[in-house]
Amino acid sequence: QDLSSFNTLALRSQASAFVRLGDEAPQHLQALSDLADRHVGRVFILGGGSNVVLAPRLGSLVVKVETRGLRVWAQSDSELVVEAKAGEVWHDFVALCVQNGWNGLENLALIPGTVGAAPVQNIGAYGVELEQRFHSLVAWDLHERRLVEMDGAACRFSYRDSFFKHEAPGRWLILAVRLRLPRPWEPVLRYPDLLAHPALGRGQSAAGATLSAEVTARQIFDAVCEIRRRKLPDPAVLPNAGSFFKNPVVDAAQCESLRERYPDLVAYAQPDGRYKLAAGWLIDRAGWKGRRVGPVGVHERQALVLVNHGGATAADIEALAGAIRVDVADRYGVELEQEPVRVA
Ligand code: EPU
Repeated sequence: QDLSSFNTLALRSQASAFVRLGDEAPQHLQALSDLADRHVGRVFILGGGSNVVLAPRLGSLVVKVETRGLRVWAQSDSELVVEAKAGEVWHDFVALCVQNGWNGLENLALIPGTVGAAPVQNIGAYGVELEQRFHSLVAWDLHERRLVEMDGAACRFSYRDSFFKHEAPGRWLILAVRLRLPRPWEPVLRYPDLLAHPALGRGQSAAGATLSAEVTARQIFDAVCEIRRRKLPDPAVLPNAGSFFKNPVVDAAQCESLRERYPDLVAYAQPDGRYKLAAGWLIDRAGWKGRRVGPVGVHERQALVLVNHGGATAADIEALAGAIRVDVADRYGVELEQEPVRVA
């Protein structure tokens, strides 16, 4: 199976074993476990393919999750819990929630990928991380052949990370995700790009504090879409996997010494006293923005995004990423960690 149209970086990749899951009836899940048994330790679960670097030939059994559906799972005065099947497209799900007045996910608009992939890397943007809205999920344990429910603690979320990236990847097939939307809804407008957005500026009082009552979820949704369209390349037009590196966290002393050398360094204070640096800024300032190396390059508006100009393989992307990583380490003494998962 050719996977180049199933990964948003459009890397050339062939899978020797490929199966689609469109129906999660018990007999299908059992059959999937039978197949997985024949590929011990080598199962790769594919959602939207937006956070992966696929090798040219995959030895893994690739399972493409295509289940659909959503429903209100529970509601009370203080919250609404919405459940979506893993194969739903994340952005379409968010759009539908906003349309129905199920507010709380609007800051996560336009993130590529599927609902099932969202908890794996604990997606986040514009001031909201998935873990803040997470209720629970249902997964099929391919080894033990049983359904499991996991709450947020079991998923061990951290920045762009979860249990699923570490514990036997490919063992748990996420089938449905439940999101908790608190009532009453409160807009999250602390991210600089949102505060500066003209459409949300109406919500600013003279003192600069946000008059949240005046802002609607729809306005935030639209603003996030507009900002993302302006800054981030559409994978359908210019293949990419979003941020290619995580924003690195450094201690206060290192941040301070970097700031002495670079007064306009972008750094966000963390609750633990450390600082998260904008990797895009570091890479940009190192002169990489817009650079092209063979078939791949650094996006011209967002240095954190690596793009495929056509015909690239994993090796091309990894070579560019490696060169950036070495340069950033030399210049700033900061180690960059790759965000997309490597699949072989
Ligand atoms: N910046 C530059 N040059 C660049 C890119 C960024 O100077 O080429 C500066 C910006 O001006 C800004 C700062 O760096 O001051 C941060 O940039 P931005 O707001 O675009 O966000 P980011 O830190 O680069 C993170 C997430 C994105 C998410 C945005 C918005 C990570 C690794 N990335 O990017 O998530 O959409 O914040 O919340 O945390 C993703 O994970 O794939 C992703 C796109």
